[in-house]
Amino acid sequence: MKIIHVSAECYPVAKVGGLADVVGALPKYQNGPKISSQVIMPFYDNAFTKENLFSTIYKANLNLGGTSYEFRILTLKEKPLDFDVFFVDVPGLIFKEFVYSFNDTERFLAFQIATLDWMLTWDTFPDIIHCHDHHTGLIPFMLQESYKYEAFRKIPNILTIHNAQYQGWFSHEKVGLIPPFNFNHVGLLDWGGNVNPLAAAIKCAWWVTTVSPSYMEELKIAANGLESLLSEESSKCSGILNGIDWNVWNPETDPYIIENYNTKTVESGALANKKYLCDTFNLDFEKPLFAFIGRLVDEKGSDLFPEVFKLALEKTNATILLLGSGNKFVENQLEALKNDYIGTYNAFIGYDEKLSHIIYAGADFLLMPSRVEPCGLNQMYALRYGTIPVVRSIGGLKDTVIDISEKNGFGICHEEVTVLDIINAMDRAVALYKEELKYKKLRSKIMEIDHSWDVSAQEYINLYNSIN
Ligand code: ADP
Ligand code: GLC
Repeated sequence: MKIIHVSAECYPVAKVGGLADVVGALPKYQNGPKISSQVIMPFYDNAFTKENLFSTIYKANLNLGGTSYEFRILTLKEKPLDFDVFFVDVPGLIFKEFVYSFNDTERFLAFQIATLDWMLTWDTFPDIIHCHDHHTGLIPFMLQESYKYEAFRKIPNILTIHNAQYQGWFSHEKVGLIPPFNFNHVGLLDWGGNVNPLAAAIKCAWWVTTVSPSYMEELKIAANGLESLLSEESSKCSGILNGIDWNVWNPETDPYIIENYNTKTVESGALANKKYLCDTFNLDFEKPLFAFIGRLVDEKGSDLFPEVFKLALEKTNATILLLGSGNKFVENQLEALKNDYIGTYNAFIGYDEKLSHIIYAGADFLLMPSRVEPCGLNQMYALRYGTIPVVRSIGGLKDTVIDISEKNGFGICHEEVTVLDIINAMDRAVALYKEELKYKKLRSKIMEIDHSWDVSAQEYINLYNSIN
């Protein structure tokens, strides 16, 4: 079986969030004697492409609404990844350092057209085309409707929704950018008066998955306008929980962290990492360390952080370290807070892969008060490193974290995204931290919870077989 994942992100090539982690891991776990799983993604002008050498394996021109653009398909020349990755370079629509930009409509359409044009030249077509998020959402439509891609009509394709908030809308004025199709079917592209690539994919894909079962259910009630569509299409929708890359995220071998450790040595190993964080960020080592890692957007509850942090630092015995970037207003507030809480609070506004690993290893608790969380990988990384997640019970967080008050519980959960609820959860965490023996036992216990990709990768394979 030949599986092609088409995605805007893939770790370690280009990463903005969890989409990259998933597409950078799932193919590894799908590949086997009878399965070849590969990735096609845009070629970005970023650190990874500067540090690696590429070979051109195909060159042609694509047509984007009457304008011709040269494109190339590239592969890595040396140092291949654990699975094949093909890069689509469209020099006329340069994919700069930032994965997402103002001209995403044109760039991602060109990316999708180039991908399909190139596939038309293959001797054997893929058995499955697996699209991820709205950036690749026009592929299921084109496979079904474009005259040019008639040869692909029978290729089963699936869409995975990593985040339904972002849908890639554009005006019908640009519909001419899409290769010719039977215009009587233009309604398939439309949702709410715009061309909506995510909606078009939900309508046309053979199957639709979300990255956790709970998120699938939640989308029927709140999906940024797509609720009724998802309810209508529910007979071809299911939720498959993400896994994590067990090899990359392994405290025993992780090259990024200060001291490696396993379930037996977590106490000293995690403390060595905590010590490094406390020394580097001037934090009181004796107090419980809460961390947040992620995008500073309302979905993650980050607008409440300034108020929550102030209250927590005054009311509880906590120290807090934040790593993230996003909303500038929130970033500025979080920066300003540093002066008021020297020794108990610090923040690194920006993106730092290495630091994120050290934080997963060294923090005592990981905060995730998300309003929306389709899956969330951070809580699973935290568990793997023996750091207790403090989460709002929603989406994938609900599917992966059980509150300590319940049987076999190991995390701290709260129901609402309010200052009060988050502070109460932090209070409960501080109380747990004081129960030294229980807290230590919990740390090594959570490291053993298996969230590796093995099970979910197989679930995808079963799904591909069932729609074939
Ligand atoms: P989302 O994809 O919604 O941002 P996930 O929990 O699925 O959330 O994945 C986030 C991924 O991005 C994790 O690998 C996390 O460690 C990483 N990440 C987010 N922000 C940063 C940052 N500022 N620095 C380093 N890694 C980050
Ligand atoms: C999205 C979601 C996140 C999920 C990730 C990977 O970015 O916001 O919850 O973990 O995709 O599927």
